[in-house]
Amino acid sequence: MEPNKKAIWNGIIREYRDYLPEISNGNIVTLNEGNTPLIESTNLVDKVGNIRLLFKFEGLNPTGSFKDRGMTFAVSKAKEDGSTAVICASTGNTSAAAAAYAAKAGMKAYVLVPAGNIALGKLSQAMIHNAIVMEVAGSFDDALDLVKEVSKNYPVTMVNSLNPFRIEGQKTAAFEVCEALGFAPTYHFLPVGNAGNITAYWRGYKEFKEKGIVAGLPKMMGFQAEGAAPIVRGEVVEHPDTIATAIRIGNPASWDGAIEARDESGGVIDLVSDADILAAYNLLASREGVFCEPASAASVAGVIKMVERGELEDGDTVVCTLTGHGLKDPDRAISEASETIKVRPVMDEILAVMGFGS
Ligand code: F0G
Repeated sequence: MEPNKKAIWNGIIREYRDYLPEISNGNIVTLNEGNTPLIESTNLVDKVGNIRLLFKFEGLNPTGSFKDRGMTFAVSKAKEDGSTAVICASTGNTSAAAAAYAAKAGMKAYVLVPAGNIALGKLSQAMIHNAIVMEVAGSFDDALDLVKEVSKNYPVTMVNSLNPFRIEGQKTAAFEVCEALGFAPTYHFLPVGNAGNITAYWRGYKEFKEKGIVAGLPKMMGFQAEGAAPIVRGEVVEHPDTIATAIRIGNPASWDGAIEARDESGGVIDLVSDADILAAYNLLASREGVFCEPASAASVAGVIKMVERGELEDGDTVVCTLTGHGLKDPDRAISEASETIKVRPVMDEILAVMGFGS
């Protein structure tokens, strides 16, 4: 049989070419990222009432996070420029994506991660894709300062979201949300760390509106972790701290972009506690069947907070980006879950556990 063209997704550059800066075919480095599902929430009515809640599950990208959308473009452009190496600072997901796309491109990847504050799955990805992994005895913010300096002075391309092609690629998630719904949602909730993603979504929504593809725009709702909430507090946080290591950032690079998204859209940037984040993380896994990483659940914790405050109304269409897959941070899942039950390979013991014992 002939390949079914409709069944083939070619990655965000080829699919959204008309909305992205030009790039030649031969330089496209892709793992067919994007085209992630928008999953309808069905089991949280007691928490969120009768809003229509949907999860844009970015954990289903090739390296398990939304970073792939920006990385395909940043690495493709690096290739077009003749670059042979990329570098980034990362709380984990950017480094995993950089390492994978650099491997695909035949480039070297250098990644700087905060020692002791990167989830196991992410570290394993950067390592197996053969990146040079430097564990910096400092914060993400320290690492990003170093990366900026290195890329200014040496022939390596920075692929943090300060690289403009990262934001360009990431905006395609907003396109997908609009296409899946047939309109722009009333609200879009997402976790905020370095603030690149909220900046990118807002750009994507605005572009679809300007082109007349959708009539409206969502209010952009960004949520930081309580211990790492510089934008909410209006000042740099010197020692950010949260269990959501992905967003453990005290001085976001796209601070201005986040403020602009909030103010232009009439949205909010607020904070949620680690306890709220973990409660949402557990609810998603146990009731919705969706396993995301803790930072991702900050968006849902934000929805619950806004519902409790009476900010959202029945009938509103609310999209939450779940930025990364739960398998990124298996240690957290195991520490949050109930214990396993040790049994011998004996039927009576199995039945007793199941409540079928005599
Ligand atoms: N969620 C996850 C799972 C992330 O990895 C990140 C950022 C964010 C949310 C926040 O997105 O930075 O665009 O506001 N991770 C970066 C990294 C910092 O290095 O992987 P943002």
